[in-house]
Amino acid sequence: MSNVVSYELNGNIGIIRVNNPPVNALARVVRQGILDAVTEAQKDASEAIVLCCEGRTFIAGADITEFGKPPMEPGLPEVLTVIENSSKPVIAAIHGTALGGGFEVALACHYRCAVASAQVGLPEVKLGLLPGAGGTQRVPRVAGVKAALDMITSGNPIAAGKACEMGLVDEIIGDTDLVAGAIQYAKDLAESGAPLKRIRDISIDPASIEPGFFDKARKEQAKRARGQIAPDRIVTAIEAAVTLPMDKGLERERELFKELVTSPESAALRHIFFAERQAAKIKDLPADTQSRAINKVAIIGGGTMGGGIAMCFANVGIPVVMVEINDEALSRGLGIISKNYTITVQKGKLAADKMQERLDLITGTTNYSALADVDLVIEAVFENLELKQEIFAKLDKGCKPGAILATNTSYQDVDAIAAATNRPQDVVGMHFFSPANVMKLLEVVRGEKTADDVLATVMQVGKKIGKICALSRVCYGFIGNRMLSGYGREAQMLLLDGCTPEQVDSALERFGMAMGPLAMGDLAGLDVGYKARQARTDLPDNPKLFRMGTVLVEIGRLGQKTGAGYYKYDPATRARMSDPEVEKLIQDEARKLGIEQRKITDEEIIERCLYPLINEGAKILEEGIAQRPSDIDVVYVYGYAFPAAKGGPMHYADQVGLKNVYNKINEFRGRYGEQYWKPAALLEKLAGSGKTFAEWGAGS
Ligand code: CAA
Repeated sequence: MSNVVSYELNGNIGIIRVNNPPVNALARVVRQGILDAVTEAQKDASEAIVLCCEGRTFIAGADITEFGKPPMEPGLPEVLTVIENSSKPVIAAIHGTALGGGFEVALACHYRCAVASAQVGLPEVKLGLLPGAGGTQRVPRVAGVKAALDMITSGNPIAAGKACEMGLVDEIIGDTDLVAGAIQYAKDLAESGAPLKRIRDISIDPASIEPGFFDKARKEQAKRARGQIAPDRIVTAIEAAVTLPMDKGLERERELFKELVTSPESAALRHIFFAERQAAKIKDLPADTQSRAINKVAIIGGGTMGGGIAMCFANVGIPVVMVEINDEALSRGLGIISKNYTITVQKGKLAADKMQERLDLITGTTNYSALADVDLVIEAVFENLELKQEIFAKLDKGCKPGAILATNTSYQDVDAIAAATNRPQDVVGMHFFSPANVMKLLEVVRGEKTADDVLATVMQVGKKIGKICALSRVCYGFIGNRMLSGYGREAQMLLLDGCTPEQVDSALERFGMAMGPLAMGDLAGLDVGYKARQARTDLPDNPKLFRMGTVLVEIGRLGQKTGAGYYKYDPATRARMSDPEVEKLIQDEARKLGIEQRKITDEEIIERCLYPLINEGAKILEEGIAQRPSDIDVVYVYGYAFPAAKGGPMHYADQVGLKNVYNKINEFRGRYGEQYWKPAALLEKLAGSGKTFAEWGAGS
């Protein structure tokens, strides 16, 4: 037997223990170990077999690193057949998270017991897959087709208590000693001569499913998960559980799984899974770097951003003091927070007493002397360097030694802000995305002098408040906003060249972006970009540049807030509608600029908007602003709603082929000028050597 799976006889109960840290993933040795242990248990004096795990969790799924490699025997279905055919009852004892293949192992067992804190789920859809070892066949047999569809297409885990109500777990065991409880449960089952309950023996009456149910489900999934194939195949697999006998259903599920595991969608989502975890790791930070304790936080500025950030901390039980310039601004800020929580309660997503607990953690002040005992200050005032420097000078005087002083700036020079203090080593950027209590990304900006333990602490705190952190060095706009400039520029240029706003946005939305760039501009307010451009002195003097954004602002069309921008908006529903007036304005501007408008393909829209992201990403890598290409992908997926199923801009570029991207950029350079379309040196080098960003990032 392998050393990651052990088997012992405890009285009349056989105990199989899996021990494959960190999450007991079903690597080949684990599969083989379980198979051997169940086989051995058939021959000894055991009357029932408990399958449990060491460490923090029950089996959390297949070993994702094995996907994309040649299959290795034994496959999981083979192991599950051996479990299911055991002549003695096998009882899964679940703690932590039984996910994916891990939950499928449990479903192949004859009984399942779990501690109350455990969760079970089939998250494969989040990796562009479907449960490939019977999940789509067994869950509907136990919990019903509708519940199975919800569970498997959402991929969200279910708490043990709920799973018990659904029949997916048979017994809840107190949170103290799962293995002892499971042994007792197994003894009781053996003594009572409980039958070998096999989920495969349950059949679903096809007449219980209303006609057209699956077609409707497929249509709903196509709408919900635009452009993704896994949700569609999940519906088909669950349909097979209704229409086919178990073995045929399993075969169908396997075929669909094999199709998905080789899909670009799954490769992209697996890439993001690992990229997200890697992004939090800082390459040159010594492993033994200690972090500082963060027990109390202050937020400077009670606007939308400051309020959202305050909520992030209160949500995890950390007291926050909010600082504003006067009582009026303070009560407005605290009022917005209270309103946001109230909406969450009204939606049923938060209990009223929890809301009060969180509100009690947030206090307000207009006095910097209240900051003497805070461990972390996050400044979230508007984007003005002098103002930020003034605030940091005050923080330097008022905060205790060792307090971390963070700025939530989106663009300003973190080193210039740090220079306003006598402790630049304690200064760092924490760039949240709006709405800060919802958006997952936190760009952590490392100043020239930021201390290692400050970075380690901020990464840790970011994780604690539920953020996905990525590290950036200092530059204008850091990773995300710096790259965005070319994306927005081309979206606007395309209008002058002959596209309608709807055409630009729809092409990118079909690609998978949550919202096209022009509709996004309307949502954020076109005046935001307008003001930012006016403050810049480095933009080329070209009348075509951001022309339509400027024209619209100057006639008072600021976007959704004025009911009109690139589109007009229904005052009641806020639904966007094409506006012939804007189309005429665009044609007039093109004429004034001497641009002959033409018909533009969706392909060109995608290339012209996305290739500047890739090219700027390459520059960011060669300058060492981002640590790795996959960090850029994390920034774009979690901060800018780039479709995870495309893996982020750098992964997408690798899929398109860097040579193709490079050639196209050169073509645009010839057509639209050197100024905007000069290929990055790194892109040129990799395209020439036939390498990918991923290979470059891995050091090969
Ligand atoms: N395979 C390989 N490695 C895995 C893994 C898996 N299934 N799950 C987690 N890991 C690795 C992570 O990459 C991470 O590695 P590093 O420390 O080197 O970065 C480490 O385990 C710890 O993971 P987390 O940081 O995510 O730990 P956590 O405690 O925050 O979360 C978890 C634990 C909830 C189990 C989370 O890791 C998770 O959701 N894992 C994925 C679960 C999943 O998707 N399972 C389905 C797999 S597909 C499948 O099973 C198909 C099938 O039908 C057979």
